[in-house]
Amino acid sequence: MEKLYVEGGTRLSGNVRISGSKNSSLPILAATLLTEGECVLRNVPDLSDTNYMVQILSTLGADVERASGNVVVSAKKVASMAPYDLVRKMRASVCVLGPMLARNGEALVSLPGGCVIGDRPIDLHLRGLEALGAEVEVKGGDIKVVAPSGLRGATINMSGQYGSTVLGTDNVMMAAVFAEGVTIIEGAAAEPEVADLAKFLNSLGARIEGAGTSKIVIQGVEDLSGGEHVVIPDRIEAGTFMVAGAVIGDGITLENVCFEHLESLTSVLLESGHDIRVVDENKIHVDSSKDPKPNEITTEPYPGFPTDMQAQMCALFVNTPGISMVKETIFPMRFMHVPELKRMGANITLKDSMAIIRGVDQLSAAPVMASDLRASAALVLAALGAEGTTEINRLYHIDRGYEHLDRKLEALGARLRRGK
Ligand code: EPU
Repeated sequence: MEKLYVEGGTRLSGNVRISGSKNSSLPILAATLLTEGECVLRNVPDLSDTNYMVQILSTLGADVERASGNVVVSAKKVASMAPYDLVRKMRASVCVLGPMLARNGEALVSLPGGCVIGDRPIDLHLRGLEALGAEVEVKGGDIKVVAPSGLRGATINMSGQYGSTVLGTDNVMMAAVFAEGVTIIEGAAAEPEVADLAKFLNSLGARIEGAGTSKIVIQGVEDLSGGEHVVIPDRIEAGTFMVAGAVIGDGITLENVCFEHLESLTSVLLESGHDIRVVDENKIHVDSSKDPKPNEITTEPYPGFPTDMQAQMCALFVNTPGISMVKETIFPMRFMHVPELKRMGANITLKDSMAIIRGVDQLSAAPVMASDLRASAALVLAALGAEGTTEINRLYHIDRGYEHLDRKLEALGARLRRGK
């Protein structure tokens, strides 16, 4: 299994181009199943997760071509069954459920498996589809949804115990595109990726308003055409490089970013003393502080502090003098990076869903294990600032969600290599 060896201590500087958003691309790829027309998607990152989604589309019968960030999909016909072998590889594959149901009036999708960041139920997705008139049956590890006489608009609340659901909102929004009448999604996830999906659907002829807020209104239409869409920049990849800049940067400029999507992270980094400057509409510059301050963060749905940046912030705070607190409210168990950071000398106490971090002077290299995508990113960041060469096992987690992370870091001056 491939490993990443990171030699710590080299300061990073220069420019890095941020890729298209993984979490936008996945539902947008799934949404192409809603139309027979040709869809051209640009700025789709080359990741194993987007590759899985492309495989799923092909297996369901779509013609898919992919080259240099562009994916062209023509789904003349769509099968009604997504088998376990495909779905098990990636939880986000559940977002084919809504489009398959809307297109065919039925869908059978294997229930996605568990996940290391905690229990990831899909009850809210199913509740939403039921409210649109679908019959839902979960049996033998499969979810079967049928709506023989079509879907009907309804008012649906998508909030649950931990806030709203991003992919659940996507699924219901996609299913509602062809529902008769008006669908109102209350307690909708307001993440920029939901707004990007709605923008794509509207470009095909859907009538969706309010996406990007907690209330989305969808007027059902009969058909969608083909279209073209440019996926938004990946705010979590951008955030990860901003934290790299704070951990060990001597001036990093991020290109192709949407600053508006990075405001909560920017405020925390500024409060901690790091320097963030907007260079122009889609460029920001990050410089680390010589005298960083500890901080407290609580993860929340957008526009709050993103759970997908929580692990990376732990990697920053382990080297920040003083006591920092990190509270996780979206996935309370999402702390798999903590024992690994401790192997590198971090001083972290976990109490319920809170990490209490006492900054240490210097981490030291150790063999560590990547457990999920963002935990892996945190280990890379910690390794960049550590003394010695850190060996990060299970590199495939990083390749699921960061396009050429090692090459981009290398271009900024980092010393790292892949190996066995
Ligand atoms: N939840 C329920 N019931 C549901 C669905 C979700 O209780 O039916 C709970 C979850 O257990 C969790 C909370 O609601 O406590 C939020 O989960 P959500 O459904 O919003 O997560 P998701 O849509 O499955 C997306 C991202 C995740 C990101 C979360 C939260 C994609 C492909 N994935 O997942 O991204 O952490 O939203 O923002 O968009 C990542 O990129 O590393 C990643 C895990």
